[in-house]
Amino acid sequence: MTEATNSGFAMTSAEKIALANRAAELLVERIEELPQQNAWEGDFREVLEELLLKDPPEEGQPAREVLEMAARDILPVAMRLDHPRCFGFVPSEPTWPGIVADFMAAGFNVNACTWLVASGPSQLELVVVDWFRRWIGYPESAGGLFTSGGSAASVDAFVAAREAAGHPDRMTVYMSDQSHSAFKRAAMIIGVRLECIRLIPTDAEFCMDMSELARIVAEDRAAGFNPIAVAANAGTVGTGSIDPLAELADYCEAENVWLHVDAAYGGFAVVTERGKQLMAGIERADSIGLDAHKWLFQPYEAGCLLVKDAATLERPFAVRPDILQDTVWGKNHPNITDRGLQLSRGFKALKVWMSIQTFGMAAFREAVMNGIELAEQAEEYIAASPVLECLNSAKLGIVCCRVNPGDRSLDEKAIEDVNRTVLAHLFWDDLAFISSTMLHGKFALRLCVINHSTTWADVRATLEAIERFGKEAIPAG
Ligand SMILES: Cc1ncc(COP(=O)(O)O)c(C=O)c1O
Repeated sequence: MTEATNSGFAMTSAEKIALANRAAELLVERIEELPQQNAWEGDFREVLEELLLKDPPEEGQPAREVLEMAARDILPVAMRLDHPRCFGFVPSEPTWPGIVADFMAAGFNVNACTWLVASGPSQLELVVVDWFRRWIGYPESAGGLFTSGGSAASVDAFVAAREAAGHPDRMTVYMSDQSHSAFKRAAMIIGVRLECIRLIPTDAEFCMDMSELARIVAEDRAAGFNPIAVAANAGTVGTGSIDPLAELADYCEAENVWLHVDAAYGGFAVVTERGKQLMAGIERADSIGLDAHKWLFQPYEAGCLLVKDAATLERPFAVRPDILQDTVWGKNHPNITDRGLQLSRGFKALKVWMSIQTFGMAAFREAVMNGIELAEQAEEYIAASPVLECLNSAKLGIVCCRVNPGDRSLDEKAIEDVNRTVLAHLFWDDLAFISSTMLHGKFALRLCVINHSTTWADVRATLEAIERFGKEAIPAG
């Protein structure tokens, strides 16, 4: 054991270990108690300001007390995205080795920027990105990097697309009306004008309408615009829908337009046979975004961008400032900073690697399948319910429904009012958390069922609560 040094930040070995042990105890307790708690917790600004709006103290206080304060007053006041009944937005339930990996990466103070600064971490990032490459079915020329998430991956992908198109004026990009808002933002960041972002309508299954895409691109070309990218979905955030990827690949090849596939939500379904079939054609995209902090059970942040040809990322991103001249080790030793917008970078690959080393791929496959099957089971339940209407065919763990008893002719406004009431009741009076969306103009209650500890009992209890609150909310008459 070393003694404390004179630094103002010094702690003894015993103090450091005690603090980390206490943190681990608090976390394990939290995770074990989750199922008995509400999936949502939060508070209003005035309450939290009263508690937290304080100047930084001049003198420190015992580390354990600070830790307990964080664990009591701040950290739990948030949605419990890892709760077995958290079905809102995109929940996420990290594995314990993944959580510990983030602690280790911070403790080893890894900056995964260049080979010189982080050889081991860089090699491991190449290894994990290569796992993803093989799951997708990309060629060996493919490569990529970890990003903060799908939004950052979309910016990097559009930069590569713009570069591949020769950085033209009057750029247009194409995505469906179901695409994630991250793509609109990414397009604007890379200099596409808002009015040049084309939202292609979707069919009844919420998939991009290919004939509309072709028509709009042709019109744009005739008007002197330069289409640089189509962003397709491999799992829309609303319904888990998958655009016609193989057809899109044919089309984009013929039109010489970059095809990006947003697989941030659904992409890791490719670890299963079913997911692989659903995503056939994804391997023909020029780039693909994936989020390991969604369906690969990792703590935030863990996005990834893969490109079919790694050089298409390095062309726009690699810059060689004098201050980094020592870091150039040659082609065999890539500096991951040359593939994206960050120089200093955390070591995100470690959590994926540690989780998969610990549990093995079979456990991941089973956990992903659990989400797919539970959503399908929910769809069957909804179809058999006298008060519920299904609004999508369950796909990639997402099912949407609304209260709409078939024997009553409620107009759209009345149905929406009923479902808003149901949502509010669930929010305040039930353990579960779900969120809503609009699907082709219809107000939808949406369940995203991807947490690995979620069981059918959790899903069924939530659907029963929706039915119960729905019956109460339906106007008499
Ligand atoms: C389909 C899809 N694309 C992109 C994103 C944005 O990803 P991130 O939140 O990791 O930036 C999300 C987030 O939910 C998503 O579901």
